[in-house]
Amino acid sequence: MARSVKPRSIVLATRNPHKIAEIKAILGGRIQYESIGDFLGISVKEAGRTLVDNSLTKAAFTFKVSGKPSLADDSGLFIEALDGKPGVYSARYGSDDNERITKVLKQLANEKNRRASFKAVFIYYYAPNTYAVFEGECRGMIADEPRGSSGFGYDPIFIPKGYSKTFAELGEKVKNRISHRAKALIRFKKYLTNL
Ligand code: IMP
Repeated sequence: MARSVKPRSIVLATRNPHKIAEIKAILGGRIQYESIGDFLGISVKEAGRTLVDNSLTKAAFTFKVSGKPSLADDSGLFIEALDGKPGVYSARYGSDDNERITKVLKQLANEKNRRASFKAVFIYYYAPNTYAVFEGECRGMIADEPRGSSGFGYDPIFIPKGYSKTFAELGEKVKNRISHRAKALIRFKKYLTNL
């Protein structure tokens, strides 16, 4: 198996500016980041049934196109009372963030169990057929109504455990310490440090 060596640059398999900003803020350091958008105008379809499947498809594709160490992630919101929905389909649960949030709140109307978890899987693909997996989870509750304006996606309705405000009210500084992506990326950062 190819040995992983400290990369000078990493290609991020996402075009989402919020995610790119979060990844840079958490990883920081001396690494240069490029985006798959710098190489290609098309996106990979997320057709897998798990976060790992989707993340691996994106990471392998980005490595193939760029020829450089690539980092892909897939994430989603898993709601206990909805049997884990929207889960791996979080991005496709409605046509925009507003519609997705409205759908979730409607499905949870009169539901007392508001427990939910954000999960993230990062895959660092650094040589042909060779990669490492990093996972992170942030537990919390679904709010009764959307609150706050920072972040993206389901941030206005997710209250992380130990807090009374939503991610969208807490802001990016707090979110980048405790989020599912932060936890997975901190693991990835440790891995890079040890190379
Ligand atoms: P993907 O990882 O780009 O496939 O996106 C998964 C979807 O899950 C996003 O489009 C959001 O709807 C949702 N999601 C993932 N992470 C977050 C987050 O940190 N805040 C809010 N929504 C998120």
